[in-house]
Amino acid sequence: MTSTSLPTQTSPSTLAAIGESRPGAEWWRTAVIYQIYPRSFADASGDGIGDLPGITSRLDDLASLGIDAVWLSPFFTSPQKDAGYDVADYRDVDPLFGTLGDFDDMLEAAHARGIRVIIDLVPNHSSDKHVWFQQALAAAPGSPERARYMFRDGQGENGELPPNNWESVFGGPAWTRVEDGQWYLHLFDTSQPDFDWTNEEVREEFRGTLRFWLDRGVDGFRVDVAHGLVKADGLPDYTPPEDADSMGGEEPVPYWGQEGVHDVWRDWHRVLAEYEGDRALCAEAWLPTVDETAKWVRPDEMHQAFNFPYAMSEWDAEQLREIISESLRAFPAVGAPATWVLSNHDVIRHATRLAMPGHPQGHGVGPATEGKPDPAAGLRRARAATALMLALPGSAYVYQGEELGLPEAMELPDDVREDPTWFRTNGERYGRDGCRVPLPWSAADPAFGFSPTGESWLPQPADWSALARDVEEQDPESTLWLYRTLLATRRAHDLGAAQLEWLDGYGDDVIAVRTGDVTVIANVGTEPVALPAGTLLVASDTFEGGELPADTTVWIAAD
Ligand code: GLC
Repeated sequence: MTSTSLPTQTSPSTLAAIGESRPGAEWWRTAVIYQIYPRSFADASGDGIGDLPGITSRLDDLASLGIDAVWLSPFFTSPQKDAGYDVADYRDVDPLFGTLGDFDDMLEAAHARGIRVIIDLVPNHSSDKHVWFQQALAAAPGSPERARYMFRDGQGENGELPPNNWESVFGGPAWTRVEDGQWYLHLFDTSQPDFDWTNEEVREEFRGTLRFWLDRGVDGFRVDVAHGLVKADGLPDYTPPEDADSMGGEEPVPYWGQEGVHDVWRDWHRVLAEYEGDRALCAEAWLPTVDETAKWVRPDEMHQAFNFPYAMSEWDAEQLREIISESLRAFPAVGAPATWVLSNHDVIRHATRLAMPGHPQGHGVGPATEGKPDPAAGLRRARAATALMLALPGSAYVYQGEELGLPEAMELPDDVREDPTWFRTNGERYGRDGCRVPLPWSAADPAFGFSPTGESWLPQPADWSALARDVEEQDPESTLWLYRTLLATRRAHDLGAAQLEWLDGYGDDVIAVRTGDVTVIANVGTEPVALPAGTLLVASDTFEGGELPADTTVWIAAD
């Protein structure tokens, strides 16, 4: 008999043990990794931008959530033209975020709680303020200083046309001309010149940066734009389709997914293998299929790759079924775990996106976007989608704020926007600011407790007071308690390491699987679904009666 009342929530005392990491090797195969976007997590200094001491001060909240590891988006020295993904010094902390000492303190405090720490490495491009790029600008065409980046002569009689027709991911041309007439390539903002990864000096420099952070004790790296480092010989022209996702596109794209990138990952794999303790590399590689993505995690390359086909799938049973089964085939086929992700700092938060299909990644939503979803409907789907994701074998990523059920901030005024996408498309694309708004910690405090002064680099929607962590803490039906319960139950049943089996007989609009000793039913359709016998472990929302309503997921243990 299935109990349909509110499932028993995990008590705080059960949660006390959760900060301990899973013992044994290769923690990353089953880990739940929480993405911290430092500028929006917690601000200790009061300048309105989150920082490393802010993260340290909130580690207990993460330990009680029940995650295994954190990944920090960049906190390195940077002019912040692309929120820190424009790095001027890969081996130092930007004063906005603190100091190297603050980093060491944060790392030690995280490790003391059994939380591993992955940092973000950005090898495709540096900031234009990086000393190497400054030297390149000061040096002559053809010099070794220029050879660290992608400088080329232009086309046209006087080289006045760019070397090819490539467009920047953020909009506009991917080439900028310098004073002496040469052009440099930047697949992203003008302030983010691409390195030339055929240059051994670049490779050696990054080996040094890996070692710098590995020596400090980091558990691994999330590798930015891991599909982009190597460009096709001759830099042939390429025009992406109109509606292409900003980082996707159909193959072959001469700047994505070139064979040569794999040599870099084999090299990095060897560097990490020199260190004790299971250090891991995770690829941010936007590729059209799971099979393509699996090439990044072959045994001598990276350890994990984000499953972007899963992140971009709609709330549609057929799509989900296909991507889940492909993922559970393709990743293990190369010896890697499947991974799962629904939100991050580059996509519309899933509490909004899943109820609003058809928006290309990176374009964002804003005040003039049509068809914005009802927040309650979006949240219901998001909770159901997370309950499905966290039941799946492998490793999962959770983006800060999704444990509060935060939606995309869709009403940000134009004058607060910072994403280069917004500027480079002259406001045609809103970009990604809406998923980067600082977290609400406490409803009654200025900036909802994000910073002691009430400053916040992006304004928080007023109705986020209801989603503040301290409010949700008091409500057993909150999204925060749902995440805690899911994570504790996932751990107790070892779902990360379980085998998944598909169950028949629930209809086309339902995802029904057995994973380990847990039956998971996700109702992705519109009609209620009869439930099997058993004890309800978790439900993504409360419901009455013996049938599972639409947009709801349950975990059931056999009696
Ligand atoms: C990655 C980051 C994104 C950044 C881009 C350029 O995709 O996730 O935020 O803008 O790389 O570095």
